[in-house]
Amino acid sequence: GAAVEADISDILPGSMKIVEWRGKPVWLVRHTPEVLADLPTLDSQLVDPQSKVTSQQPTYAQNPTRSIKPEFLVAIGICTHLGCSPSAVPKGSANPGVGDGWKGGFFCPCHGSTFDSAGRVFKNKPAPTNLEIPPHKYLSDGRVLIG
Ligand code: FES
Repeated sequence: GAAVEADISDILPGSMKIVEWRGKPVWLVRHTPEVLADLPTLDSQLVDPQSKVTSQQPTYAQNPTRSIKPEFLVAIGICTHLGCSPSAVPKGSANPGVGDGWKGGFFCPCHGSTFDSAGRVFKNKPAPTNLEIPPHKYLSDGRVLIG
């Protein structure tokens, strides 16, 4: 399918927008500094903290934030278990199922898979892998091309 260009210049820290690419929702998430500080503290709770499953991201997103620019996550918003749509659950929200210490991320209501803010799946949840990062590149500071 055709590549999709998206404007990310109007996404505020802590918010996201969704665009469609190849019939799939692509999340464009702008992290807060607090989220970026929390990400390195989660590794022991994650299935694949270093993003070693190479099918789930391009090599340029095989890093702690799973992104090109640490502040922005570009991820396919489809649960890697059976394809439901996870919801964003900010830090401090009523916790949907991960216990105390939730630092924010995404929760799949179908069978309870939980992902951190970089789309990395928590252990003991049915999803086998981290969320998929689509191929993408920045055309400028405020524009990203997906595909
Ligand atoms: Fe998301 Fe099963 S489809 S947990």
